[in-house]
Amino acid sequence: MPDRLLLRRPDDWHLHLRDGAMMQAVLPHSAARFGRALVMPNLVPPVRTAADARAYRQRILAALPHDTRFAPFMTLYLTEDTDPDEVALAHASGAALAVKLYPAGATTNSHAGVRDLDAVRPVLERMAEIGMPLCIHGEATDPDVDIFDREAVFIDRVLRPLRRRVPDLRIVLEHVTTQDGVDFVRDTPRHLAATITAHHLVLNRNALLAGGIRPHLYCNPVAKRERHRLALVEAAVSGDRRFFLGTDSAPHPDSAKLSPCGCAGLFTAPVALSVCAAIFEAARQLPRLEAFVSLNGAAFYGMAPSADRIALVRGEAWSPPAAIPCGEDRVTVFDPGFPLHWRVEESA
Ligand code: NCD
Ligand code: ZN
Repeated sequence: MPDRLLLRRPDDWHLHLRDGAMMQAVLPHSAARFGRALVMPNLVPPVRTAADARAYRQRILAALPHDTRFAPFMTLYLTEDTDPDEVALAHASGAALAVKLYPAGATTNSHAGVRDLDAVRPVLERMAEIGMPLCIHGEATDPDVDIFDREAVFIDRVLRPLRRRVPDLRIVLEHVTTQDGVDFVRDTPRHLAATITAHHLVLNRNALLAGGIRPHLYCNPVAKRERHRLALVEAAVSGDRRFFLGTDSAPHPDSAKLSPCGCAGLFTAPVALSVCAAIFEAARQLPRLEAFVSLNGAAFYGMAPSADRIALVRGEAWSPPAAIPCGEDRVTVFDPGFPLHWRVEESA
């Protein structure tokens, strides 16, 4: 087993950076490790227009540490009022790389999302014409659907019909969590990929609920049974170009997580790459790590891999800080529950 891996600098194809003080607190942790990120638009109010995306991108650039070349790519939040011309303009001008579909009510700040896909059909058709990808939060929101079945039901009720109606639309099934999701991507010959988070490669629902409820492991989509986690690991380490890393690092202050109705989202940016390396090492597939974290996503989005490289080194176990400060509050860092040995070498 090697103890030093030289990789094209990884990209994070699904990231929540928030805004204001929270962005200041979390951004350096992504910028120190990743070359590019696709930034999610679920701010309050959401990032809906090219102008919103440009302004948000400027705030991110202004908050970046000076010594990084981290490049944020932006997404637009799809609503039933989204104008196809606005989306095409945002794409053509480079203001947004993709559009994000949140089924209304599916997750944090998704209430302005989509209830009826027919209402956004003209937008999706225009996106198919211009080759702009749609990133989908793939969970059914119907109250009759069990939370552990939401992804599988979404695929059947929404994604399959959507693929039939707009077959040329390029789709990313975000943060896939089930065997059903993996199978659906594998069985779809074109225009479909999936992001996988580092934490879903580690967690099953026992980790969340057995022996006590662990709010710091609660996220959307919720972790599933062990057999689903194993399917995600298999997809990630397979080298299949349709699967790539999107951390879904989604920071919330502890005060919002540790509450009778705690919110969903894990802050994983400081450890996501180290966790992926541990998973690939355990699967004896370290040579395929670069494809998953650095190559496949860029290829899907039509970009060259990062020009620069990082070294991941294996050494003594290290621990990230348990939490980082954010104003008066703090944000807990994801703890995978095992010691981390791989880390990004600082001066690579
Ligand atoms: C995300 C958030 O907090 O913005 N939460 C999460 O649990 N992943 C939203 C999302 O991606 O679902
Ligand atoms: Zn997310």
